[in-house]
Amino acid sequence: MSEPLPADPRALVRRVAERLAPARFDAPEREAQALVAAVLDRTPGELELDGLLGRRIPAADAARVLAAAARRARREPLQHLVGRAPFHGHDLAVGPGVFVPRPETELLVEAALARLAPARADARPRVADLGAGSGAIAIAIAAARPDARVLALEASPRAWPWLRRNLRAHAPGAEPRFGDWRQQLEAEPDGDFALLVSNPPYVPTREIPADPEVRRHDPEPALYSGADGLDEIRRIAGAARRLLAPGGHVLVEHTERQGAATRAVLESAGLVDAATLADLTGRDRITLARAGAVGRRGPCD
Ligand SMILES: C[S@@+](CC[C@H](N)C(=O)[O-])C[C@H]1O[C@@H](n2cnc3c(N)ncnc32)[C@H](O)[C@@H]1O
Repeated sequence: MSEPLPADPRALVRRVAERLAPARFDAPEREAQALVAAVLDRTPGELELDGLLGRRIPAADAARVLAAAARRARREPLQHLVGRAPFHGHDLAVGPGVFVPRPETELLVEAALARLAPARADARPRVADLGAGSGAIAIAIAAARPDARVLALEASPRAWPWLRRNLRAHAPGAEPRFGDWRQQLEAEPDGDFALLVSNPPYVPTREIPADPEVRRHDPEPALYSGADGLDEIRRIAGAARRLLAPGGHVLVEHTERQGAATRAVLESAGLVDAATLADLTGRDRITLARAGAVGRRGPCD
């Protein structure tokens, strides 16, 4: 006979933690709580309160939670199980074929927004998100700066429908373009962009990620970029020199070990003031640089 479905939220969390045990999570209790909360669309705090107040979980909901736990035990990302991922205040649709946006990329967004000149009545700065995936960066920037004209470029046919869907829902004014961003931007005029932002693929080809969620479920074109992981960043640096307006910025995310190499790449492409920013744990994660002034007033002055 099968076990009765737990109706008490705390008992359900314990049951899920038991089901997750074989998957060897570092913190199975925390994983279990996150899963129950996400599937039931509660915060962990609300779930705790539900338990304290003696609220009961309907059997159909408990069954949904346990079905999700069986998939999570096979290390499917939680975001795929619930079909969404939070990013910069937006609830983005995600699933197989698209890179799940990570909280650390919000730092890239903040750093990018800080480098856009204040809105002016007579200017609409252009911004491009190179490798937009779910649209996380493009959406966050478009929402924070409705005056900006945001382009979201994506080459993966599997990621493309997710990008279209998220832009429609969260940033209908942003323009999605399908294809390799280099071809898509070829016809754009020199010096037309205030910002180029990218969370590009940056994992060195031989450094296969240890996390099964990343290794098996993040799409390969979102991860790998040549022997040192910097191939895509080199291409971005070359394009940035031409596309950025004087004073415009390029910002890229990278691993904690790629800061110095990324600064060198950006500077050798002719950009200036390359600097690396660390995340809240002190790890280098973002490098940015500026197009030097050439004596004319651009959209970033
Ligand atoms: C690490 S993911 C980042 C996705 C999203 N910007 C984010 O931060 O969540 C990199 C994305 O770039 C896309 N990509 C890689 N090379 C590209 C290229 N040359 N042109 C357009 N998109 C590219 C991949 O398909 C993937 O969706």
